[in-house]
Amino acid sequence: MQIEHLVAEHDRTNFLNWLRDFPQQVEAAIELGEQLDGRVDNINKIYIGGMGGSGITGDLLAGFLYENLRVPVRSIRHYSLPAAVDRQTLFIAISYSGNTEETVSLFKAAGRAGAARLVVSSGGELTEQAELDPDSLLLTIPSGQPPRASAPYLFIPLIYWLDRLDLARAPGSDAVTETLEELEKITEELAPSGAENPALSLAGRLHDKINLLYGSQPLTAPLALRLKNQFNENAKMMAFANELPELNHNEIMGWRQLADETDSYRVVFLRDFAEHPRVQKRFDITAEIVGEQVQGIDQLAGRGESRFSRFMTLMLYSDYVSYYCALLRGEDPSEIESIELLKRLI
Ligand code: PA5
Repeated sequence: MQIEHLVAEHDRTNFLNWLRDFPQQVEAAIELGEQLDGRVDNINKIYIGGMGGSGITGDLLAGFLYENLRVPVRSIRHYSLPAAVDRQTLFIAISYSGNTEETVSLFKAAGRAGAARLVVSSGGELTEQAELDPDSLLLTIPSGQPPRASAPYLFIPLIYWLDRLDLARAPGSDAVTETLEELEKITEELAPSGAENPALSLAGRLHDKINLLYGSQPLTAPLALRLKNQFNENAKMMAFANELPELNHNEIMGWRQLADETDSYRVVFLRDFAEHPRVQKRFDITAEIVGEQVQGIDQLAGRGESRFSRFMTLMLYSDYVSYYCALLRGEDPSEIESIELLKRLI
């Protein structure tokens, strides 16, 4: 069946539109970041609380800013904060809906600990709480789309704000121009109507397999984790993420269990040309060892010279792969019934 027919049949709330809109989201998110007011002083650490498509923001931020962050950044994905959170902590609560109970609980705990607080949300309880508290900062992002399709809004404004706080460095204008150009090219190339669509071909290989997604620290490991989550939510597939060099010290042994099931598994490496040279070598050797135990290994890498372009293009490319996997499996990428059921039942 033609892919356009699968889009019409399964993409009932037009998820594709959010993918197409990604370059514009990046532009709008940069503007939001430039407008985000508010000073916080004497900060020596940042904790980022959030779940799912919102919670991944902390990992994206820590990975992307790794080389120029002046304070440690840590993600928290549950209800309580560590004792280290104090008056010198910046706590950022990220929840697209503003109603995720774990994130609301963390926001309250950060207030009790005297931390400086910022809420990033499109509404809900967290927005109300931040509006009621004169000491809390609020970044309101556009509503009406799935959190996992809103990464630019959740992630990019923070980079620009942290830059103004002198805690990190945002991409310069050349990097932004390059990123937008590369994202536009990808949007065209990976559209369902594209003559040769490499994301669709890759989805053809992955959609009926269990996929292991291997990135490396610091840049592509959070993107591997995000891709795993996109496979889970968009395509309703089981997938696993891990990172080099750590997996060379444990997971490569686990492959032995799969010796009789090699056809069920595939591996995707998420690569970056600026990887540590020893990590490059590790990817090569890992491919040799694991290659015999899986059906195949594919490689994905971002495009462009700047770190911003490489990061954002790899993110968007991965999103298209998960989108096409959803369609090939006959799934609606927007539907997340079990997640919603759990939120109702708890
Ligand atoms: O992608 C999704 O819809 C989920 O992973 C949500 O992000 C997650 O359930 C948390 O909700 P929210 O982003 O509204 O805090």
